[in-house]
Amino acid sequence: MDTTTTYLGLRLPHPFIAGASPFAHHLDGVRRLEDAGCAAVVLHSLFEEQISLARDDRISGMASSDARFSETLAFYPTWTQYPSTPDAYAEHIAALKRSVSIPIIASLNGGTAQSWLTFARTLEQAGADALELNLYQVVTDPRVGGVAVEDEWVRMVTELKRLIGIPLAVKVTPFFTAFGNVARRLSDAGADALVLFNRFYQTDIDVATAKPVVRVELSHNDELPLRLRWIALLYGRVPCALALTGGVERPNDGVKAILAGATVVQMVSALMRHGPGYLGTMRETLERWLEWRQITGLDEARGLASLRHTADPAAFERASYLHTLQSWQ
Ligand SMILES: Cc1cc2nc3c(=O)[nH]c(=O)nc-3n(C[C@H](O)[C@H](O)[C@H](O)COP(=O)(O)O)c2cc1C
Repeated sequence: MDTTTTYLGLRLPHPFIAGASPFAHHLDGVRRLEDAGCAAVVLHSLFEEQISLARDDRISGMASSDARFSETLAFYPTWTQYPSTPDAYAEHIAALKRSVSIPIIASLNGGTAQSWLTFARTLEQAGADALELNLYQVVTDPRVGGVAVEDEWVRMVTELKRLIGIPLAVKVTPFFTAFGNVARRLSDAGADALVLFNRFYQTDIDVATAKPVVRVELSHNDELPLRLRWIALLYGRVPCALALTGGVERPNDGVKAILAGATVVQMVSALMRHGPGYLGTMRETLERWLEWRQITGLDEARGLASLRHTADPAAFERASYLHTLQSWQ
């Protein structure tokens, strides 16, 4: 049975890879993933704010020494709260490449098409096999329209493709009026893969202090259907690869991701909960499923539950919505 998968130009033995997470902070974590048979590792992100602070002593154009911005700048993590400086991040990539043989995908995280992007070259020179760009941004200004944001993101992808020769994946959020069009534009700009989707880390409110509180909760598979839906809708309709991230909790969730059309399946929460050995369970479950269906190659299974051959996906989605509401007994 052939589970080999090509993602970002990398030939992988199977489609299960570790998503960006603290697993990659240290060499030991990446070694544990490799020993457990992980197909590739996405590193934790290096943030736009870290790079512009190190280079220009500014965050979002605000000089750290300027008293007018002190209240806003206080929202941001301090130097010591990041796992490394930008230079140390590049050195970490070089050290990983000397020590492990699984592919290393670096991660840049930001939202502006500005000079910080040139750091991608340093990551490529350090030996990263590919780059994942995470476009995490909450647009709060009511005067800024969606098209302006999308144009900026297309500019970022175009600029990165000009700067680097390694393949590029783009990790995005689902909150768009017409996400299919955004996916198409990012792919046309040169993205080799889209990573669907960022979780929206929503701030809670502490009633004791009446203040906002932030914390990371590990995911559950109630987050999976949103990803399955969009991958099923885009499969065969955008030329780039589709990576699924978010809500892959149980072994069958990996099978569902492939059936929807995912090229690879990224995992974080499940690996943090059960340890890297869970990757073996994911792989075995997929192999057993393929055997049960008498499918010899993963490509035959990929996209079986997608809307690739559906003449009118919008009508199908609208009809599914109506069926869903009528299904209540
Ligand atoms: C503790 C923690 C740290 C994370 N750090 C990053 C990061 O640096 N960059 C990034 O793009 N995603 C980061 N993520 C998000 C994951 O890569 C992933 O997209 C998300 O957790 C959904 O996948 P899951 O349901 O398998 O956990 C982090 C997630 C967790 C739980």
